[in-house]
Amino acid sequence: MAEDIRTQIRRLLVERNAVLLAHNYMRDEVQEIADITGDSLGLSIEASETDADVIVFCGVHFMAESASILSPQKTVLLPRLDAGCPMADMVSVDGLKKLKAEHPGVPVVTYVNSSAEVKAYSDICCTSANAIKVVKSIDSKELIFVPDRNLGRWIAQFVPEKQFIYWEGYCPSHERMTLKDVLQRKTEHPDALFVCHPESAPEVSAIADHVCSTSGMYAWCRESHARKFIIGTEPGILYRLRKENPDKEFILASSALICPNMKLTSLEDVLVALQTMTPVVTVPEQLRIKARLALQRMLDVPRD
Ligand code: 13P
Ligand code: SF4
Repeated sequence: MAEDIRTQIRRLLVERNAVLLAHNYMRDEVQEIADITGDSLGLSIEASETDADVIVFCGVHFMAESASILSPQKTVLLPRLDAGCPMADMVSVDGLKKLKAEHPGVPVVTYVNSSAEVKAYSDICCTSANAIKVVKSIDSKELIFVPDRNLGRWIAQFVPEKQFIYWEGYCPSHERMTLKDVLQRKTEHPDALFVCHPESAPEVSAIADHVCSTSGMYAWCRESHARKFIIGTEPGILYRLRKENPDKEFILASSALICPNMKLTSLEDVLVALQTMTPVVTVPEQLRIKARLALQRMLDVPRD
């Protein structure tokens, strides 16, 4: 009898000494088969610490690139090479160089949702889970924050002692969730708490009961005594929220939150990647060394 696709993937993962990492926004069936699921910070840590020879990264391009920057001796596979991040594409190296020239000596804090090239021109990276700690760790009153204007402005409230120079990038999926959408959901479910990602527009974050990274949402919803939650982030997160909290109800704030890039990777793509050992994501060595510094400085910031 022919092996089913999940069995073939698991067998190949063992044969290749590979680990399957999946972001919290991946399709349910991909999260289900992954060795590790997590947010951008958690997956970066896994990528830097795993003993596997091969990392199969089910996420978008900048995530696989970060894994390759942190673990150059490993083969990093991105099953769908066309899975990009529109926010990462909103900042170019030339634009960043120009902004740096206008503010000489001001450190650049770059959200990991960015290319290796942009990271290479940055002082330190951050994710939505550690951004406040990273910004506080900087020995400068002023900083350039790239590329997410919404994450930048959300962090700025917690560090009033710092002055931010913003890049005006944004996540199209999170910005499609409007204040009207959320108010409508709150009217439909007056007993629900609203939690959203800091990539959301400021007027949306302002009415949230809690704002956090995707992994932060699992912890917050698990620990909360509430029974109903309106979720303001990509719907991939619902898979684990519902599985881990069968007695609680989760309602998506807006159907417009879907990230088409995060939905590209199928089980077939994962199988083909393991069979052919392609597509491989690598970063040219000189660029990698510079980008690694910014990522490593982020990983060196004490977590708690
Ligand atoms: P986190 O999982 O780090 O919260 O990231 C959200 C995101 O949009 C990744 O593309
Ligand atoms: Fe990029 Fe937004 Fe998609 Fe994340 S959810 S990959 S930030 S477009």
